[in-house]
Amino acid sequence: MTTLALPQGSDRTSPYQGYVYAYPHKTAYRLLDPRPRLADVWATEPRDALFLYLHVPFCEMRCGFCNLFTRTGAPEELTTAYLDALERQAAAVGDALGEARFATAAFGGGTPTYLTAAELERLCDLACRFADLGAVPLGVETSPATATTDRLTVLAERGTTRVSIGVQSFVDSETRAAVRPQRRAEVEAALDRIRAVGFERLNIDLIYGIDGQTPASWLYSLDAALAWEPEELYLYPLYVRPLTGLGRRPREWDDQRLELYRIGRDHLLGLGYEQVSMRMFRRPGTGAGGTEYCCQTDGMVGLGCGARSYTRDLHYSFEYAVGAGQVRGIIDDYVREQEFGFARVGFELDDDERRRRHLIQSLLQADGLETAAYTRIFGTDAAADFAAELDGFAGLGWLEHETGSIRLTAEGLAHSDAIGPALFSPRVRALMDSYEAR
Ligand SMILES: C[S@@+](CC[C@H](N)C(=O)[O-])C[C@H]1O[C@@H](n2cnc3c(N)ncnc32)[C@H](O)[C@@H]1O
Ligand code: SF4
Repeated sequence: MTTLALPQGSDRTSPYQGYVYAYPHKTAYRLLDPRPRLADVWATEPRDALFLYLHVPFCEMRCGFCNLFTRTGAPEELTTAYLDALERQAAAVGDALGEARFATAAFGGGTPTYLTAAELERLCDLACRFADLGAVPLGVETSPATATTDRLTVLAERGTTRVSIGVQSFVDSETRAAVRPQRRAEVEAALDRIRAVGFERLNIDLIYGIDGQTPASWLYSLDAALAWEPEELYLYPLYVRPLTGLGRRPREWDDQRLELYRIGRDHLLGLGYEQVSMRMFRRPGTGAGGTEYCCQTDGMVGLGCGARSYTRDLHYSFEYAVGAGQVRGIIDDYVREQEFGFARVGFELDDDERRRRHLIQSLLQADGLETAAYTRIFGTDAAADFAAELDGFAGLGWLEHETGSIRLTAEGLAHSDAIGPALFSPRVRALMDSYEAR
């Protein structure tokens, strides 16, 4: 078994080191001192195809496996105060940006549909200050219990093109094992409402690696999801060790996840679904839908206390935590904040980090890295810049050089969560290792 250069404390032979959906991870962000003015941060940034992201850090339940920045049981005073703060932030960010054009938008969480229909109208009004919601793709995350017809109707009327619902499993004993209070009947009713209201794209999230899940029960969940003919499916390997059964021997859980990954992938490919990345599968003939953001190149404006913003030189956000008490504290601070014209916490990218980011984000997509595009942006050759790392992956059969691109093989894609972390810079790794969870 090959040992990769991976974060401290990890089982360096596991294919499941970490989900790299953004580079660098927020645990590499630090307090910025002095705090830069947003007007300066954005001054030289291209502003003609930005991504608008609004983060809603509320949920009706706290699932046992989830480490996203979110809290449960927010009373109406808090959701109102949160929207008030979002408006103050939107005004400050709008002033700092000046003239800007947005190519796509998303409401993420937590669970944005924790907000009521009236609150979602307010959220859309707020987003409209930046982006023409009827004209750009808009993706919204939802959960079965909160995907109610009144909320979905508001979202459809305001131009939502993609609804993504967390289901995780269609087997009630599995959702119970994952500590997610949810019943199959509730899930089917929510999917029925989503299809009845009508959106261009439906995505269903499923999880594999749950205690008690078998190849047969995994296929059963996949087929139950496929009955809704979703335009997209996200298959997530579980990342929080089950409390019982599996995990006594570390390899056992890895083997279960790898086996279920292969079963899920082959099942979807057999039905003609296209694999976009390790987790994402797209129904044939549905196109990209435009809600995918070209994260290697485009800037992102994030609003809300869990949202990141990206410019070429700086990634920034608010404080980060996972523990329930700390998350509540950060949300409470956010709703009291009056001064949104500065970046508080962040990470400055130099040329090496920009190259790494581009490499990681491209390589983890099935299409891989387009070598000419890399050279156009950075003036150098990706294969030469990262020769040692890429040769290492090629030696494991995880990567191949083709004319015009560098791509992961099928086995490489299966090991995406080991490849991504192995490409972190020593600086990012050191920051992540020294991050003290609050
Ligand atoms: C924002 S949620 C989706 C919307 C909504 N909050 C819900 O749960 O229905 C994002 C998705 O990330 C996945 N996820 C979160 N934590 C995970 C973990 N520890 N392991 C695997 N997948 C996870 C789940 O599939 C979840 O649906
Ligand atoms: S999985 Fe979804 S509903 Fe569950 S805690 Fe995470 S964000 Fe909230």
